Amino acid sequence: MDIVPLGPGFAAELRGITLAAVAADDALYRETRALLDEHSVLVFRDQAVTDEVQLAFSRRFGPLEVTKVGSDGAGTNLVILTTIGADGKVAAPDSRRALRNKANHLWHTDSTFKRVPALASVLSARIMPAQGGETEYVSTRLAFERLDADLRKRLNNSFGWHDYAHSRGQIAPDLASPEERAALPPACWRMVWTNPANGRQALYLASHAYAIEGMEKDEGLKLLGQLTAHATAPGTSYVHQWRAGDVVMWDNRATMHRGRPWPAHEARLMVRTTISATAADGLESMRPPSQQAAE
Ligand SMILES: [Fe+2]
Repeated sequence: MDIVPLGPGFAAELRGITLAAVAADDALYRETRALLDEHSVLVFRDQAVTDEVQLAFSRRFGPLEVTKVGSDGAGTNLVILTTIGADGKVAAPDSRRALRNKANHLWHTDSTFKRVPALASVLSARIMPAQGGETEYVSTRLAFERLDADLRKRLNNSFGWHDYAHSRGQIAPDLASPEERAALPPACWRMVWTNPANGRQALYLASHAYAIEGMEKDEGLKLLGQLTAHATAPGTSYVHQWRAGDVVMWDNRATMHRGRPWPAHEARLMVRTTISATAADGLESMRPPSQQAAE
C-alpha cells in the first residue's frame, strides 16, 4: 500500500488497497484503522463500490448508524444523498430535497446532534455532476493545536449543545420537520475530543452547535462562530474533487466538512455509511459530568 499525503497536514490517499480487501482481512483493517487515526481523511480511488462492499468495509470499524427519519434510506444503514426525486428527475432548487442538500454546504461534523455521535463516515460517489460538487475538509485537530494554551484549557472543560433543527434553520425556518425534531432532541458534548489511540485532541464543532453550557446564548454563538472561522481559515482545507469510483472516509472526531455547490440541473448521487463512536473511540469522556453519572 502507498500512502500519498493530500492536504495541509492531514488527509491521505491510500493506493493499492480496495475496500473489499479491508473488509476481508484483519491485519489490513488494523492498518487502515491506524491510518484513519493518524490522517483523519482517507481517500480510496478506482473502487468497484457497491452497497454491499461499502457496508462490509464500514462494519469493520464499528456499529453502523441506522438512518434517521426524514432522510432517504431511513431505517437502513445507508444514507442516500441525492438530488434525484422519486420521479427520476433532478429536484427543483426550492424543493425540500434541494434545501436539505444546501444545509450540507454549511461546515459541519456528521451526527453531533445524535444520541450516539459518529466515529467516522464513508462516502462513495455514484453519479457525479460534470463540475462542482466537491467535498471540502478541515482538520479540527490542527485547528485546536493552533489555539493558545488558555483557550485550549478552557475548551477542554466546556460543553456544547447540538441540534439538527439549528443547522437546518439556517437554510429555511421549517426545514427540520416536526417528526425530525421529535426524534432528534438536542445533544450535549465536550468541545474537545481526545483520541485514545494517540492522545491528540480536536475541536468538536458543527453547524448543529447552537449553545455553550453556562454561557449566554449570544456569547456562546459568537464563540462557536469564531472557532468555526478559525478552524476553516483560508489555506487549511483539503478539497476533494470527486471522480467515479472514489470513496472517502473521514474521522468525525477530528474534522469538519462541507459540500460545495454544483449546477442545480445536474444530478448527483452519493451513498454514505456512518460508524457510531464507542467507548474505545473516546466517547465516554465526551459526555457532560451529569450524563457520565447517569449512564
Ligand atoms: Fe456531512
